[in-house]
Amino acid sequence: MAMSKSSLAFLVLAFAFFLCFIMSTGSYDYFQFVQQWPPTNCKVRIKQPCSNPRPLQYFTIHGLWPSNYSNPRMPSNCTGSQFEWRKLYPHMRSKLKISWPDVESGNDTKFWEGEWNKHGTCSVEKLNQMQYFERSHAMWRSYNITEILKNASILPSATQTWTYSDIVSPIQKATKRTPLLRCKSLPQPKSQAKSQPKRQARSQLLHEVVLCFDYNALVHIDCNRTAGCWNNVDIKFPP
Ligand SMILES: *[C@@H]1O[C@H](CO)[C@@H](O)[C@H](O)[C@H]1NC(C)=O
Ligand SMILES: *[C@@H]1O[C@H](CO)[C@@H](O)[C@H](O)[C@H]1NC(C)=O
Ligand SMILES: *[C@@H]1O[C@H](CO)[C@@H](O)[C@H](O)[C@H]1NC(C)=O
Ligand SMILES: *[C@@H]1O[C@H](CO)[C@@H](O)[C@H](O)[C@H]1NC(C)=O
Ligand SMILES: *[C@@H]1O[C@H](CO)[C@@H](O)[C@H](O)[C@H]1NC(C)=O
Ligand SMILES: *[C@@H]1O[C@H](CO)[C@@H](O)[C@H](O)[C@H]1NC(C)=O
Repeated sequence: MAMSKSSLAFLVLAFAFFLCFIMSTGSYDYFQFVQQWPPTNCKVRIKQPCSNPRPLQYFTIHGLWPSNYSNPRMPSNCTGSQFEWRKLYPHMRSKLKISWPDVESGNDTKFWEGEWNKHGTCSVEKLNQMQYFERSHAMWRSYNITEILKNASILPSATQTWTYSDIVSPIQKATKRTPLLRCKSLPQPKSQAKSQPKRQARSQLLHEVVLCFDYNALVHIDCNRTAGCWNNVDIKFPP
């Protein structure tokens, strides 16, 4: 009896260690560098409106996400040192306020903290907190999506619509790598949703452009994850 109790205890302990191991290993295959279009962030938040919307007319950073090819949800919330404000020197903070603002509630620090704790902690084997933010800012400067789209005459418009490839092609051409787009659906007013066939009622807004990078966050590579936009539904790029 004592024997089986202790072996049970051992099993429980071993399992606990196993879980800890799974959750703490911040291993990943590659990075997704995600830029977002701020006007879309708040346009789609009808039920819980943004408390301090900043509809900036340029792509800003959402995050740099260590990612796994076989498990799209992983890794996240790895153990390891949590965000420390003092580790971002003031010069860097003022740069991030432009490239990586919180466009929904206005608390930039809280946004950086959330992204570091959820994603940054999973790539700490390669990038410490300072490097994580520096690298992200450098990527933002090097890959100016706003300018790439502007050069291709894809400008914010309340009425014009685009296909997925209309938007992807110029980015692919300018960066020589395949990006990924993510869209958000616009909630329809009830009256419209009822009178229109379901298919037509659907519409989507361009929300994010994802560029992929290798394990070291240095080499730009093709993204090959499934697009985050509906097939065959026009895309709006709203001002
Ligand atoms: C990706 O996730 C799978 C399943 O969770 C895991 O077995 C694998 O080790 C992960 N790959 C990397 C490089 O972390
Ligand atoms: C990670 O933590 C964030 C913030 O606490 C939470 O929203 C998210 O669901 C967590 N993700 C996972 C996979 O546990
Ligand atoms: C912003 O977020 C930080 C980090 O979560 C927090 O310490 C600070 O109090 C917040 N500031 C405001 C004005 O809410
Ligand atoms: C990106 O391009 C836009 C449009 O040309 C320009 O206004 C902006 O200053 C550029 N941003 C950076 C970081 O170079
Ligand atoms: C946009 O076009 C301008 C003018 O032709 C060019 O100088 C610039 O390099 C282009 N920018 C991008 C990101 O392709
Ligand atoms: C994406 O590319 C990686 C690396 O080449 C590969 O391991 C993975 O299977 C590919 N995934 C898909 C969905 O094609």
